[in-house]
Amino acid sequence: MTESDFIPKRYTKLIDKGSVSWSSPSNIALVKYWGKKKDQIPENPSISFTLSDCKTITTICFSKKEKQEEFSFEIYLDAEKKDDFKPKIETFFKRVEVYLPFLKTYHFKIETSNTFPHSSGIASSASGMSALACCLMSVEKALNPEISEAFFMQKASFLARLGSGSACRSLEGDLVVWGYHDEIDGSSDLYGTKYPFDVHNNFKNYQDTILLVDKGEKQVSSTIGHNLMHGHPFAKERFKQASKNLSGVIPVFKKGDLDAFIKIVEIEALTLHAMMMTSMPYFILMKPNTLEIINKIWVFREKTNSKVCFTLDAGANVHVLYPENETESVLKFIKNELVAYCQNGHYICDKIGFGAKQL
Ligand code: PMV
Repeated sequence: MTESDFIPKRYTKLIDKGSVSWSSPSNIALVKYWGKKKDQIPENPSISFTLSDCKTITTICFSKKEKQEEFSFEIYLDAEKKDDFKPKIETFFKRVEVYLPFLKTYHFKIETSNTFPHSSGIASSASGMSALACCLMSVEKALNPEISEAFFMQKASFLARLGSGSACRSLEGDLVVWGYHDEIDGSSDLYGTKYPFDVHNNFKNYQDTILLVDKGEKQVSSTIGHNLMHGHPFAKERFKQASKNLSGVIPVFKKGDLDAFIKIVEIEALTLHAMMMTSMPYFILMKPNTLEIINKIWVFREKTNSKVCFTLDAGANVHVLYPENETESVLKFIKNELVAYCQNGHYICDKIGFGAKQL
């Protein structure tokens, strides 16, 4: 597949108006994407767990308009008009217009809400952009009902990527790879694909409890962070390491080797932040409580032989990952020892999930 395969040849139906709704989850990367080329092409392949309960629900009502020179849309978050979201959507529409030539034909009313609080510090771009991409694909499907389910998902992922890179990994479950890797059949820089190999039962229903250390806005956007990988002194080695770690997870998933899983996941999280700390300008997104939590997890693991581990995305919050059979003991540990480091004691329990759904 190349980019041009996503440009539709013609639409077979004429539709004046309609409405479509999708829900799409967030995802948490195990091998991280950090650094991109032109057109949101990742510098290295990544793999993530699709989440289950942290999701965005989006409805688009579309109606044909007279003038077709400009994009026309309005956007609401929790029923409140959000004009400050418009520039991001406008940029996205411009980027994807060539692949969705109907965008200027309709006026769109976009209504969106998240199952997690907007001010939780949990990035809504992966779930938000993937839900929006699915809605737009449903409009395309209304205009061209012959589109297959497989193509629908592939193109939704392709479009989501152009909104926010990691969003392309939220369409399907439960493990998704994005970025070409020579050992992973079907992997592509253009869209996410379901991890194609065996996954041991140890990873079934894997749990992710998100500890909200800092609910504020990120000080450095991921766009800026990705760009700082251009000319970064360690970039080349980092991209090689990510590919190596992706090769490394293949036998780990197959055998259910949780100790090896922990090593890869934690080195990935720390390397992501090491890249931020060593870019120019340098920055630190972890907070003192992020480090307190990491240390507590290490002590708990040492003491109890638990297989709990942590990962981080581009912020201070900590994702605590653990197998389903440890749910009771790890939640007890979180309540007794980690909640104290969360802002207002807040955390969110989630787990591995199965991707976007039409509503
Ligand atoms: O999707 P973006 O451009 O917001 O990048 C996010 C990248 C990380 O979340 C830090 C890592 C990843 O692979 O999801």
